[in-house]
Amino acid sequence: MKIRKVGVLGCGLMGSGIAEVAARAGYETVVREVSQEVVDKGLQKIQGSLGKAVEKGKLDAGERDATLARLSGVVGLDELADCDLVVEAIVENLDEKKKTFTALDEVVKKEAVFASNTSSLTITQMAMFTRRPDQFVGLHFFNPVPVMKLVEVVRTLLTSQEAYDTAFEFARSIGKEPIACRDNSGFVVNRLLVPYLLDAIRALEEGVGSVEDIDKGMQLGCGYPMGPFTLLDFVGLDTTYYIANIMFDEYHEKRFASPPLLKQMVQAGRLGKKSGRGFYEYGKK
Ligand code: 3HC
Repeated sequence: MKIRKVGVLGCGLMGSGIAEVAARAGYETVVREVSQEVVDKGLQKIQGSLGKAVEKGKLDAGERDATLARLSGVVGLDELADCDLVVEAIVENLDEKKKTFTALDEVVKKEAVFASNTSSLTITQMAMFTRRPDQFVGLHFFNPVPVMKLVEVVRTLLTSQEAYDTAFEFARSIGKEPIACRDNSGFVVNRLLVPYLLDAIRALEEGVGSVEDIDKGMQLGCGYPMGPFTLLDFVGLDTTYYIANIMFDEYHEKRFASPPLLKQMVQAGRLGKKSGRGFYEYGKK
């Protein structure tokens, strides 16, 4: 199926990145948020990221302007009616996803493919909220979306070959490297990454090393671009906590259980970079 117009639900950290890369690749892109205020904030985020790409010499000013011309922010779901692909990147909450996909299924043309950027919920349960489970896939992007090359393309037992190929080809067409994954909580990357991040917190709780030393250990010892605590702050401690809980509910394995310190930091509002403080401090917010 040929994709011309892409809809993105949510213009937060991930949604804004997905909308940006789709528009940069030449797709007419509509990003939807819950209010005009949030839409405006999201579009500002995209403008900031495009500005950074221009500064870094990754994009010229003409391409930036053309990208912005292909991009629009909307509040009403109706505006997504003629999209060929809709990628959902709203909050990691099943009830919210259910409400959104049920409403979306009513308004978007029946041939369109639906995708979720969920980190840890299964695609199958979301596909079943719609009347098009055969046209439903996972498209899992990584933060920061404009920079990270990977997209996990997830198929369920019900995904048709045509919808899967369309999604896989879409990921390639926006300059990403897709990998094929079967539907399971966390897919490939979070299934390996989340226990590692939680284990770093457990190591801290047990006094194995300081935040700085554990980070330095993994950065310099393994060549990781960020140590686990920098990455936790970057992803968001609340997001990591939700993901861990969902994965623990799914697998009932201790490696996915949230350590008490993570829960307490979330309760205390120390959410990482976005709140100005997590394992590190980031100046006033
Ligand atoms: N558009 C295009 N390119 C951009 C860009 C933009 N908006 N912003 C930056 N870039 C490019 C830069 O030009 C640079 O490219 P170069 O190496 O060819 O010159 C490259 O991206 C890196 O940019 P910076 O120099 O600004 O940044 P750093 O070198 O400090 O790297 C980082 C920052 C990419 C975030 C790096 O630290 C990193 O890879 N960290 C790990 C991130 C990670 O693990 N993400 C996954 C999180 S898990 C997840 O998302 C899953 C979820 O479900 C939880």
